[in-house]
Amino acid sequence: MAIGIFDSGLGGLTVFDKVNRCLPDLPLVYFADSAHAPYGVRDAEDIYELTTSAVSYLWDQGCDLVILACNTASAAALRRMQENSIPPDKRVLGVFVPLIEALTERNWGDNSPPREVAVKNVALFATPATIASRAFQRELAFRAIGVDVEAQSCGGIVDAIEEGDLILAEALVRSHVSALLRKMPKPQSAILGCTHYPLLENVFQSALGPNVKVFSQANIVAESLLDYLKRHPNMFGVGELSKFFTTGQASHVSDRATQFLRRQVVFEAL
Ligand code: DGL
Repeated sequence: MAIGIFDSGLGGLTVFDKVNRCLPDLPLVYFADSAHAPYGVRDAEDIYELTTSAVSYLWDQGCDLVILACNTASAAALRRMQENSIPPDKRVLGVFVPLIEALTERNWGDNSPPREVAVKNVALFATPATIASRAFQRELAFRAIGVDVEAQSCGGIVDAIEEGDLILAEALVRSHVSALLRKMPKPQSAILGCTHYPLLENVFQSALGPNVKVFSQANIVAESLLDYLKRHPNMFGVGELSKFFTTGQASHVSDRATQFLRRQVVFEAL
């Protein structure tokens, strides 16, 4: 059985890449719902329906564990899925909690009560739907007290990345960072709360300046998955090579993925 990695589009490849580098023998099945991206401008109901349908496809591909490598899906759908629609022998993990555990310097899976943490001012960059859900602030409040979060809804960046227009994506990052810095001039840390954004991490870092610690999910999620697999070795898939599926146009998605990962990636159309 393989492990499934789901995103609305190409952003989850940042997570795929790190997991694949850490565990090259682990077969992964990547699902990009490119026909319906971006999710960040959709409402929660729509995101829930699209996410559950994609995850069902990954169950049918033999995955026992699926990572929602999409903050928007994790924010809008994960809790409801966990309450309603996950078969008992399957697991779905989101990308928020590992990020917050890293930000608040907790061990993976440490569910002890909230406590004071070193970081006090945090800038959060994410899609409009993720910001509207306030899921980040909710999960943070379970783990930390006294942290001021300033959220910036970053319209347009995902669309530009999906189209391969990195010049536009870079300009949008700079504009969203300036807007954030007007509201919070001195954040200590910045969260890239969308898995597409690590593709522009150096642009975020340069716009924020060297004193801001940027938390980007790909490494964090890969590390927490390694820890999870040590604790749940039955979820460690055996099998063949990784596969890539898209609801979009396979050749177009393959070209973009190859451009971003700088190695050949071939998607199959659903
Ligand atoms: N990579 C998704 C995320 O982490 C992008 C969402 C979208 O399609 O807008 O939120």
